[in-house]
Amino acid sequence: MVDLGFDGKVAIVTGAGGGLGREHSLLLAGRGALVVVNDVGGAVDGTGGDAGPGQLVVDEIKAAGGEAVLDTNSVATPEGGAAIVQTALDTFGRVDIVVNNAGILRDKSFHNLTPDLVDPVIDVHLRGAFYVTQPAWVHMREQAYGRVIVTASSAGIFGNFGQANYGAAKMGLVGLAHVLAQEGERYNIKANAVAPIAGTRMTREVFGDELADMLTPGLVSPVVAWLAHEDCPVSGHTYSVGGGRVARVFVGEGPGYMRTDAPLTIEDVRDHFDEIERTDDFSIMRNATDELRVVAKLLR
Ligand code: NAI
Repeated sequence: MVDLGFDGKVAIVTGAGGGLGREHSLLLAGRGALVVVNDVGGAVDGTGGDAGPGQLVVDEIKAAGGEAVLDTNSVATPEGGAAIVQTALDTFGRVDIVVNNAGILRDKSFHNLTPDLVDPVIDVHLRGAFYVTQPAWVHMREQAYGRVIVTASSAGIFGNFGQANYGAAKMGLVGLAHVLAQEGERYNIKANAVAPIAGTRMTREVFGDELADMLTPGLVSPVVAWLAHEDCPVSGHTYSVGGGRVARVFVGEGPGYMRTDAPLTIEDVRDHFDEIERTDDFSIMRNATDELRVVAKLLR
């Protein structure tokens, strides 16, 4: 088996000035991709800005013989997203890969959340993926090639106390990847999600030093790179990735209960709740139409 390369492919990695994005950029560039290292260089809560961290990553890539360019636009506005994609086009002439990785945290229990804690988190994670991916998507469709990766989180997929804003945005990204997988299929554009577990400045305090040191962010990047590669066989999938472990996370639907002889009543729901709750036998739908077919078949 030959090693996987990205020669000539142009990748945008958002939030690439540190943590996971830095590692994704180093790996992609090390395998021959031309990388737009995007980062505003702010604090974990999204305040402030500094071109320094992103520039360091660009310098590191170049010192290793790779090609990269710095972009300091924010993903959180449509103008910023368009400018990031423009940097790729102006510098490298195309865009093949978008790794939506930029992120911030403004944790607070739900009853204490205020708009200034909710809006910026949704803007960077969820809207940011729209703002960066959409202008790239136009080119991906035209060239009939593209790879999109979104960065989800267990905080949304499974839930995590104090992260309603973040969890909602992160699960929204899973939905985005599902739809992009459908819309990109005809154009050889694939969209997948990763839910990382990595010791970065964002998580070190929660994980503690010992665990954070073992969960090195570089152990997430091989999965991102595989999903960004032309040989990637899947679209619309999500993977939990951390510490060298990789596992598919999926939305399954149980066999359910169906009443066909009379209209469903509230008592039916109560009396058949064990059946409704069953997860021992499940289906993974390829898309919403597949599920509609299941219901339609039962009705006929
Ligand atoms: P990090 O804080 O080191 O990296 C996030 C980067 O995004 C920072 O360099 C920051 O400057 C940049 N950024 C923030 N707002 C931006 C904006 N508007 N435009 C451009 N860049 C912006 O944290 P980490 O852990 O590397 O996070 C990377 C991604 O992985 C985030 O989306 C995070 O939510 C996600 N994630 C991380 C987990 C972990 O265990 N570290 C767990 C689940 C998800």
